[in-house]
Amino acid sequence: MWKIQTPLKNINGKLFFANVSASKLASKFGTPLFVTDSERIISNYNNLYSAFSSHYDKFKINYAVKANNNLSVLKLFNSLGSGADCSCPEEIFLAKKIGFSSKDILYTGNYNSDDQLSYALKQKIMINVDSSSILPRLLKIGTPNTISFRINPGIGSGSHSVLVFGGKNTKFGMSKKDAVAAYRLAKKSGVKKFGIHMMTGSSILDSSYFKKATSKLIDIAVEIVEECKISLDFINIGGGFGIPYKPPEKPLDMKKVGSDIGKIFNGRKSSRILDKPWLYVEPGRYLVADSTILLTNVHSIKKGPINYVGIDAGMNTLLRPALYDAYHHVVNASRLNSRSNESVNICGQICENTDILAKNRKIGNVKEGDLLAILNVGAYGFSMSSQYNTRPRAAEVMINKKYSKIIRQRETINDLIKGQKVVTWFK
Ligand SMILES: Cc1ncc(COP(=O)(O)O)c(C=O)c1O
Repeated sequence: MWKIQTPLKNINGKLFFANVSASKLASKFGTPLFVTDSERIISNYNNLYSAFSSHYDKFKINYAVKANNNLSVLKLFNSLGSGADCSCPEEIFLAKKIGFSSKDILYTGNYNSDDQLSYALKQKIMINVDSSSILPRLLKIGTPNTISFRINPGIGSGSHSVLVFGGKNTKFGMSKKDAVAAYRLAKKSGVKKFGIHMMTGSSILDSSYFKKATSKLIDIAVEIVEECKISLDFINIGGGFGIPYKPPEKPLDMKKVGSDIGKIFNGRKSSRILDKPWLYVEPGRYLVADSTILLTNVHSIKKGPINYVGIDAGMNTLLRPALYDAYHHVVNASRLNSRSNESVNICGQICENTDILAKNRKIGNVKEGDLLAILNVGAYGFSMSSQYNTRPRAAEVMINKKYSKIIRQRETINDLIKGQKVVTWFK
């Protein structure tokens, strides 16, 4: 049975988020509305930081911008001392704009174009290369001061098969053999500092997986250091830390992950061969997923063999359920104390059968006009949203116990036609 938990509160059957009334937020800012609690992000960051740094002091978090690229979210991470993990020049641009310095930006692209590599080189950031064919192209454009290579350590994990990025037949990373050749070439070409990287999956709740994957990466790192006669400035074990989306999932035991990985980094093999490298992580989901709820109004209920509850958010607002059947818990923010045995499907207004945000859910005695809250949408929520079916994207608000402020305006019809030109040659 799911129980309401911080920063959510049930006050007389009405939902409060970080002590702010959900219905007040909806009436003030409209729906669909992404509401982010900045305090939750801070506490997630601090949890992760202390879990690792209490075992290994050269530890750094690089927030994965792709999870939620709102400038206020980036500013918050910047103020916490985080670095930024960027997947494209546009994310690098955002990170720089908000104040991250070059030394705190990592660029992990894949299948990069020359233009993208050239942009990254100009920004003097750390470049993480995903495949050996990219390196000669990069070196033709210029020599980065720091380079790392994304290794596929041969294993992967993830809550859905599409969230497994390591192991056989994935499009990411390189083998140890290719990496050895790449480090040698980079060294010969004048690269001064090296790192090593993996990112083998997302939304992982099994703490032992991180231990297993990190041990594999360390073994590979040790071999590379010995074969290539280089020193590694940092070892980046990626992100992937999961959060409990679906009852009765339990939170990832982050203290255990931090202690296991600290042990590996302090272990005999690492200490003998590696020269106390920095330990980097680059999480997105763990830091922001549970910081945000999506408030949405029930427009219309259709009774039938399956009852459909139609809301003003859809797969255009939150894509994860349609994309990979992801589970997001939904509560009836207007009547939290109402109980009903009726199961419903919650759907949007998009002309696709996949436009179902939640299947077979009991959300009390739901009525047209009720306000629903879809939980844990801070990661890959707004950032995956689209204008499909000619829908302006939702607004985003950031709150804490004192303030609530719009951090992204709701799009308007003008945003949908922005940049378009109508040709006239067929009139
Ligand atoms: C290279 C890289 N780093 C970090 C992340 C963040 O992953 P997560 O949100 O699971 O922590 C991703 C996600 O896809 C990624 O591709």
